[in-house]
Amino acid sequence: MKKLIVVGASSGMGMRIATDFARLGWRVGIAARREDRLREIRNLYPDRIEYMAIDVTADDAVERFNNLIELTGGMDYMLYAAGCGWQNPELDTARDRSTLEVNVVGFTRIINAAYTYFRDTANRRPGHIAAITSVAGTKGIGISATYSASKRYQWTYLQALDQLAHIQHVDVAITDIRPGFVDTPLLVQGKDYPMEMSIAYAAPRIERAMLTGRRVAVVDARWAVATALWKAIPDCIWRHLAIRL
Ligand SMILES: NC(=O)c1ccc[n+]([C@@H]2O[C@H](COP(=O)([O-])OP(=O)(O)OC[C@H]3O[C@@H](n4cnc5c(N)ncnc54)[C@H](OP(=O)(O)O)[C@@H]3O)[C@@H](O)[C@H]2O)c1
Repeated sequence: MKKLIVVGASSGMGMRIATDFARLGWRVGIAARREDRLREIRNLYPDRIEYMAIDVTADDAVERFNNLIELTGGMDYMLYAAGCGWQNPELDTARDRSTLEVNVVGFTRIINAAYTYFRDTANRRPGHIAAITSVAGTKGIGISATYSASKRYQWTYLQALDQLAHIQHVDVAITDIRPGFVDTPLLVQGKDYPMEMSIAYAAPRIERAMLTGRRVAVVDARWAVATALWKAIPDCIWRHLAIRL
């Protein structure tokens, strides 16, 4: 039986993907801060889901992550779906700080713990590390400076880790999954976003990318075209585009 650990599984895309795999018969370990939500999700598939409250910004996050792997009976796939971010044109320090702590510090901590697990413990079987990053890393977005920069950090980190795995002969696929807007609690509710996708539409595309171990996957095809065009915009024009959502 395959085993999946999802960090950031108490809501949104992480919750959907964790329950999809449990329904298929996988053993799934779920983590996030809200223990009551994790318990409710575990109760949907009590014989297949284990849970552990983990705050990725806390010093004990790696120890708890390793405990969750043990409870789940191992790990073949790890999906990092934890994240936070706001529009922050006021450059509010508290918001910037949470974004950096979750999307940069916590991200690095958990991705490294998963890599270490595959390198040291499970190298008889190939490992898979996937993270939901975002198309927001394509260029610096004025109203979401820290969020877009944190997503670019994630892209670069995953690319570096993929090279490190090659250098160290660690059999692990590193997948960077970049969705456009998805209707989850992360977005301002009741607001319309361009090319917004439902979770039901985005989840199977993310799952496919994770299972096939693609290096980078943009979700969906429309967003792949949009980001290719977006990337091509020269900085001297980009700075004049007043992006307001
Ligand atoms: N929604 C979009 O339009 C969109 C687009 C592109 C990329 N993304 C990215 O997709 C990922 C998933 O977000 P989502 O849209 O599914 O939003 P979401 O429903 O808000 O999910 C975020 C998850 O992260 C967890 N989390 C937040 N802080 C945490 C912490 N300190 N420790 C552990 N877990 C923490 C939350 O659980 P707790 O609060 O219980 O800890 C929750 O389970 C994020 O990285 C986001 O940036 C979202």
